Amino acid sequence: MVGAGLYDMLPLGVRVVRKVTEVVRREMDAAGAQEMLLPALLPATYFKESGRWESFGPELIRLQDRRRQDYHLGPTHEEIVTDLVRRSLSSYRQLPFTLYQVQTKFRDEPRPRGGLLRCREFLMKDAYSFDQSEEAGRSSYDNMRQVYERIFDRLGLDYRVVQADSGAMGGSLSAEFQILAQTGEDALVACAECSYAANVEVAGEQKDCPSCGASLKSYRGIEGGHIFLLGTHYSKAMSAQFLDPAGNQTPVVMGCYGIGISRLVAAAIEQHHDDAGIVWPLSMAPYHVIVTPLGGDEVLQAAEGIYQTLIEQGVDAMLDDRSERPGAKFKDADLIGFPIRVTVGKRGLAEGKVELKRRTEPEAVAVAVTDAAEAVIRMLNDDMHDPSGETA
Ligand SMILES: Nc1ncnc2c1ncn2[C@@H]1O[C@H](COP(=O)(O)OP(=O)(O)OP(=O)(O)O)[C@@H](O)[C@H]1O
Ligand SMILES: [Mg+2]
Ligand SMILES: [Zn+2]
Repeated sequence: MVGAGLYDMLPLGVRVVRKVTEVVRREMDAAGAQEMLLPALLPATYFKESGRWESFGPELIRLQDRRRQDYHLGPTHEEIVTDLVRRSLSSYRQLPFTLYQVQTKFRDEPRPRGGLLRCREFLMKDAYSFDQSEEAGRSSYDNMRQVYERIFDRLGLDYRVVQADSGAMGGSLSAEFQILAQTGEDALVACAECSYAANVEVAGEQKDCPSCGASLKSYRGIEGGHIFLLGTHYSKAMSAQFLDPAGNQTPVVMGCYGIGISRLVAAAIEQHHDDAGIVWPLSMAPYHVIVTPLGGDEVLQAAEGIYQTLIEQGVDAMLDDRSERPGAKFKDADLIGFPIRVTVGKRGLAEGKVELKRRTEPEAVAVAVTDAAEAVIRMLNDDMHDPSGETA
């Protein structure tokens, strides 16, 4: 911690952030969204235009430049992207499109908490869709909801999509992607039989699922993503218009879609851990494999051989070549949560064997030194295709 809600990101953390970002980028790109990058330091003009210079209140981090002009740090970018689009949008032929960025956001949260869960500076993926009609906007929104489901599935998170009200964003339709965790700030109810889930404020006192009648269960969740159909709220306020097929100036229909990239890192840990430490979903682990030599030069050499083969095969592997005691190495490996540990010991090596152990399983299995790298890769492939989603 550098200050309240401000954190240094260490090398292993940076790798996890990168893994999350890769999944997000791949799915966004596959859906036809285009990555852009807007400034984080912003002239006040745009928020003044929309009214959020006032309504955002003390959460907005404000400052002045040397000419005493008002600026702020971007907490979210609806106005800025609306301005970008109004400058180049003229015809319905240019629609639809979706733009996104992965960027540091700034919010002076009243209660920063839980490390990366609620920061004052954090990493967000924010996307914005632009359509010619309410109906087309709705279809972009529905499409993005599916993209989000793929992202959260691929990250290996247990989550529920809950109907929320759209609050400050001023839109008409919204949903939250809630990552289930006992320490979560948000209370929700979800059906045990179907996909129905709702915020406690929305669900009220009801005990039975309105979709299928089964009973509702209470959960706590961490909001990992939030999608909104904004309609013409910003485009009207900032006159972002286009000529429709009949030749009328029409405000563009917008949606906005956020994922808290850095929050997901902390939320994944809240959801996937045991007494010994983190149990990373494979897709988020900073490294997939830790190779742990326990012994002298000969052991280290064998471990290095396995490590090199893994690296050459494109596996994210780390070699624990510290001169620590076995207990300390195992403890750190469990704490950091490498999905697979390869242990090379003196006695095993004498028999031509090393041990493979999954973080999720209590027992190790012995394999031939010569087959170790391949066995690891097989294990990784199995886990990546595990339909249970536990380790995917
Ligand atoms: N202070 C924060 N620190 C880290 N991540 C955040 C923070 N605020 C929001 N996020 C993440 O950014 C995403 C999109 O931002 P959005 O404006 O929808 O959040 P929000 O509704 O203000 O979230 P919350 O209700 O938790 O304050 C959120 O779903 C969340 O994952
Ligand atoms: Mg907030
Ligand atoms: Zn149900």
